[in-house]
Amino acid sequence: MTLGVVILAAGRGTRMCSDLPKVLHPLAGQPLLAHVLNAATTLDAAQQVVVFGHGGAQVPAAFAERDCIWVEQAEQRGTGHALMLALPALLPAVTQVLVLYGDVPLITPATLRRLVASNANTGLALLTAEVCNPSGYGRIVRDHTGRLLRIVEDKDASVAERDIQEINTGFLVAERTQLAAWLAQIGTNNAQGEYYLTDIVALAAQDGVAIASTRPGCLTEVTGVNDRVQLSELERFYQRIAAENLMRAGVTLVDPARFDLRGALHAERDVHLDINVIIEGEVWLGSGVRVGANCVLKDCRIGAGTEIFPNCVLDGATVGANARIGPFARLRPAALLADDTHVGNFVEIKKTTLGRGSKANHLTYLGDADIGAGVNIGAGTITCNYDGVNKSLTQIGDDAFIGSNTALVAPVSVGAGATIGAGSVITRSAPAAQLTLARTRQTTLAGWQRPQKPTNK
Ligand code: UD1
Ligand code: MG
Repeated sequence: MTLGVVILAAGRGTRMCSDLPKVLHPLAGQPLLAHVLNAATTLDAAQQVVVFGHGGAQVPAAFAERDCIWVEQAEQRGTGHALMLALPALLPAVTQVLVLYGDVPLITPATLRRLVASNANTGLALLTAEVCNPSGYGRIVRDHTGRLLRIVEDKDASVAERDIQEINTGFLVAERTQLAAWLAQIGTNNAQGEYYLTDIVALAAQDGVAIASTRPGCLTEVTGVNDRVQLSELERFYQRIAAENLMRAGVTLVDPARFDLRGALHAERDVHLDINVIIEGEVWLGSGVRVGANCVLKDCRIGAGTEIFPNCVLDGATVGANARIGPFARLRPAALLADDTHVGNFVEIKKTTLGRGSKANHLTYLGDADIGAGVNIGAGTITCNYDGVNKSLTQIGDDAFIGSNTALVAPVSVGAGATIGAGSVITRSAPAAQLTLARTRQTTLAGWQRPQKPTNK
């Protein structure tokens, strides 16, 4: 059998009260639909088809790099209608169709594999769940032998049917040809005037097709997002699992409830994260790395033994081993800091290499600079790298000493072992191993008097 996946994602998402289509709202830093696509990608499927509608081209545009087929459902006429539109887009080779939902993000690959496997010898398999409060869901109706007969939607259910606690999660897998035949028979004669996908179940039962059912690993897997309260609940669930996985792998989280993973964290042994650390994109932390409170680390690599003090923001930075960063430091893309570097408070570094053991401890901007080893950058040093049009390079040799409050007007270079006097504006190359100053000489005016205020009589 060749599997094709159809993801229904055309719904309006009215209760989100948002201009952003529901399936683009982020969970753990990624759109809801991305989580579903990721789960589907783990299956051995020939194709993924996404039915979109509300929000128009915004949804496909957000996934331009993904290898999936987009089918527009301009008018949302029900889940059955959405699937009818999707089927013709499937490759002829597809014989088995799995239906997923763009707003049910935490479905796991394990459950999907189980559901698909349960369809091996039947025409139809459903993912159902037992819940305490079934209101709002389609109910699973079985005969006295337990044989699955049909699904009745909440709005169409009788009083007795409303007491049924086995509900339809919506996830199903069906043999393609039969599915197409059942869909061709469903109508809109129901409380909502929609084509209900769930009506295919009664048709399958009438055809004498065996209908299998499987349960999810936990209810959260099949919980959909209708409003921002539910979104936040799923976010917390996701974060708790992520935090537990990291702790079990040897990461200390001072408070797992105050940690957020919006991407992937690759941590070696004995990494220690204080409260309110946010990890985005792909982050690698070497063994023994310590990250202080309130740090945001995005797409960066930090070497073993490095300590990041509180309130730092790192984005696209690479830091070597045994470095000290912060508190209150900002490392921007292509900040490349070697081992044993020190970067202190209110220092911003962008597209700059800082050689081994070099220090910029206070109040500094280093952009487009190539800085050697053992360099000391004094407080208030600024690379003037931008003239409003061009970005220019600053080069500083090993063991140079840049006095406080120096402006390095790029392009400019400072030789190895050079010393720059504090308060200098350096516009030309400063030679190696010498003192260069570029500031007015201090003068004192003997006998100068301050102006006096006139005295009132
Ligand atoms: C559906 C099921 C119900 C089940 C419940 C689980 C039907 C008729 N009912 O009800 O048995 O218990 O899910 O949450 O299937 N969608 C489209 N196009 C449409 C309509 C819906 O793409 O025209 C998508 C929505 O974006 C959503 C999903 O299908 O992702 C389910 O639609 P929704 O309106 O939430 O169905 P429910 O009434 O909740
Ligand atoms: Mg729903």
